[in-house]
Amino acid sequence: MKFQKEIDKRKTFGIISHPDAGKTTLTEKLLLFGGAIQSAGAVKSNKIKKHATSDFMEIEQQRGISVATSVMSFEYRDKLINILDTPGHKDFAEDTYRTLTAVDSVILVIDCVKGVEAQTERLMEVCRMRKTPVIVFINKLDRDGKNPFDLLEEIEEKLKISTQPLTWPINMGGDFKGVYNLFNNSIISFTPNQKVTDNDLVPMPDLNVPELVDMLGEHDAAQLREDGELIMGVYESFDQEDYLQGDLAPVFFGSAVNNFGIKDMLDTFVEIAPNPRSRMTDVREVLPAEDKFSGFVFKIHANIDPKHRDRLAFLRVCSGRFERNKFYQNIRADKKLRFNNPYAFLASDKEVIDYAYPGDVVGLYDSGSFKIGDTLTEGEEMNYAGIPSFSPEIFKELVNKDPMKSKQLEKGISQLTDEGVAQMFTQHGGNRKIIGCVGELQFEVIQYRLLGEYGASCSFQHMPYFKACWIKGDAQVIDDFVKFKQANIVEDKEGNLVYLAESEWYLNTERSNNPEIDFYITSDFKHKL
Ligand code: G4P
Repeated sequence: MKFQKEIDKRKTFGIISHPDAGKTTLTEKLLLFGGAIQSAGAVKSNKIKKHATSDFMEIEQQRGISVATSVMSFEYRDKLINILDTPGHKDFAEDTYRTLTAVDSVILVIDCVKGVEAQTERLMEVCRMRKTPVIVFINKLDRDGKNPFDLLEEIEEKLKISTQPLTWPINMGGDFKGVYNLFNNSIISFTPNQKVTDNDLVPMPDLNVPELVDMLGEHDAAQLREDGELIMGVYESFDQEDYLQGDLAPVFFGSAVNNFGIKDMLDTFVEIAPNPRSRMTDVREVLPAEDKFSGFVFKIHANIDPKHRDRLAFLRVCSGRFERNKFYQNIRADKKLRFNNPYAFLASDKEVIDYAYPGDVVGLYDSGSFKIGDTLTEGEEMNYAGIPSFSPEIFKELVNKDPMKSKQLEKGISQLTDEGVAQMFTQHGGNRKIIGCVGELQFEVIQYRLLGEYGASCSFQHMPYFKACWIKGDAQVIDDFVKFKQANIVEDKEGNLVYLAESEWYLNTERSNNPEIDFYITSDFKHKL
């Protein structure tokens, strides 16, 4: 229990949302609260975005979307908070899934006008798979949105999680007056763009006092009393254990751009959100307070400085203490590695650190020895269970446009796919490379980066496949199937056999013709079709 104090201090979480719900704005306001950044008007001028958020790559600035994942740390009320940012664009969903393996809890931002959107549903599926505790922030209350009760119902129905409001809005849109905090029974009036402090809370233990009318007016006081009664009737007192189990999501209402409603959430977050938790490996469960260091790489970011082809691997520390200049074992590669300038991430900067503790994310400079999911330990043979690869949705053959640069192309595509930018399959018994992605944008990123970072020029040729299935079975049976369906058989980077199906019909036909073969939808052979 050497590091218990450090572990108790840390809260590592991710913010997820459908694009445009307000994730970036909320992140920036949280950093402001934490004193990690100073300038209050900076969001509008977009200045902070340049420093605080994740635009390491030029392409990201070009497109104005967050392609990368970054980490920001700040202190608040004696806690050290690590925010792992996630890309908002749906084409980079796999990046987000992987980042979710490295957090201990999640804040989910929902736009009150739009309600639960498609991407939010997919992200929540991953949270549910991992039983990640979720806090919901319903944003943009300064706009006329959906009725708050309807919003809660929509969240419960679409995201399959129970909710419990801990603040409640008093009106919305132009008439938005503030929120009632059901946790400490107080009202905070809406003041656009001001930093709320504890002095702004007006205690209101009883909603029936006449002062409520003085404060809100007849109509809004009556509405809040009615809502309050309904909430008391429906919800029991908040059970932190249900939240920690991932069964119950506390809900807060606010307006990120106006810096409103965030303090209530942050104060509750530091109280209830989990500290670094124990994690499963393929051998055993590992506790954060164990003496020996262990951790895993959940993200690899290439070419932070376009002049150098170095990569930054993001390592989540899971147990013990990570130390600078100490040798650690990369279990997959069976290689000892030592890092003489590991980075910690501050809001606008990176700094070299000597130690890191469970819950921390360390940036490790790497010249190509890491793959996504790699586990580092002090020698113990174990691998952290990550998120397996799912079937891509779009398949294209990689075509080399410059024969003089085929080596660069090979190296580039291999490294980019190690980073998890896309999945690469190789024709079985051949050399053709097929790239699988979730969205078209990923192909553009690959093309752009291959040229910019490796000097290799390529194009993509569409392939008529709709799904990849990993196959397993008796050696002879597989052998026969592979011979028979040669054109559709490829290998993933680990050499596993994969069947590419042109359509649902083909897939079903092959499955019924080959009942002895198991078709899997994930690369870890755990989820059968
Ligand atoms: P994202 O990271 O989830 O994609 O969303 P982001 O924070 O970039 O916010 C998307 C848009 O929503 C931004 O406007 C932002 O200012 C606005 N927004 C965020 N919070 C609120 C809120 O509480 N109320 C209202 N009315 N708007 C909010 P934009 O016009 O796209 O960008 P910008 O020029 O304002 O930066």
